[in-house]
Amino acid sequence: MSAGIVRVGVVGGGQMGAGIAEVCARAGLDTVICEVDAIAARAARDRIAASLDRAVGRGKLERDAARDALARTAFTGSLDDLADRQLVIEAVIENPAAKTEVFAALDKTVEDPEAVLATNTSSLPVMRLGMATGRADRVVGLHFFNPVPVLPLVEVVTSLHTSAGTTALVEDFATRSLGKTVIRSQDRAGFVVNALLVPYLFAAVRMAESGFATAADIDAGMELGCAHPMGPLRLADLIGLDTVASIAESLYDEFREPLYAPPPLLQRMVEAGLLGRKTGRGFHTYG
Ligand code: CAA
Repeated sequence: MSAGIVRVGVVGGGQMGAGIAEVCARAGLDTVICEVDAIAARAARDRIAASLDRAVGRGKLERDAARDALARTAFTGSLDDLADRQLVIEAVIENPAAKTEVFAALDKTVEDPEAVLATNTSSLPVMRLGMATGRADRVVGLHFFNPVPVLPLVEVVTSLHTSAGTTALVEDFATRSLGKTVIRSQDRAGFVVNALLVPYLFAAVRMAESGFATAADIDAGMELGCAHPMGPLRLADLIGLDTVASIAESLYDEFREPLYAPPPLLQRMVEAGLLGRKTGRGFHTYG
């Protein structure tokens, strides 16, 4: 475990926030997860409990360890409960206004001026979030991958203001405490993985949209022909089509490249509330 950080907070209990909190709790850290209210906090608890059960069922975790991880995690509807945290990881929706608001509030709430405020953003500039605080040197990107308990990567993203000490601390945290592998990226929309992944996902959406091939065949093509664990449309459904569209917006804003422009079908599906696995229907349907 990293010598430095033992008290962690996570803001947002959706699939990413819950996954990050679960990994922290499984690593033995005192973890507080903050949602907008008590009902949402309860839903985050259910999400983590279900994932822990799954890990036990798959033989990845002892039943006692799962119980201890849940006991180590506090669920709250109030940011005030993050006051004593040494590291807070923000994982709310991929919306600039929502994230900026969280950072401004965390800067006031988190008492230790040396505490690190990290963002799990997939694509927004870390710098902008840092500038919403009075401690831009302690603000950094820590970008996890879904499902967080399974995928070993964390992208560490430093803004022009992030201090070398902050970067070293979170790298040590991600590798030694969480057992993840770190890659570093500059503060550019999409960082390394999404800058490469999103054009590929969009190529698949355009292929389906034009009738070139069915969603099932596109996915089977990449799963069986290239040994990807999921085809691109099933993966977009897993990430959430609203999240994919938001990432694309940031990428397109930054680079103005047509390959980052979201295809109309994706936009229509988001408007229709067909967001993928979390709503039961996206490019595929889920039971
Ligand atoms: N805790 C620990 N381990 C777990 C687990 C949990 N809660 N749930 C599953 N696992 C383990 C299983 O034990 C299994 O491990 P082994 O193969 O060693 O037995 C492995 O994870 C796979 O689990 P399953 O067999 O249950 O499921 P699967 O084979 O259908 O795989 C999947 C599901 C892991 C999601 C796989 O399809 C996959 O990796 N898909 C690609 C996901 C991906 O690319 N994610 C990145 C998205 S991009 C992103 O997140 C960033 C962004 O900014 C948008």
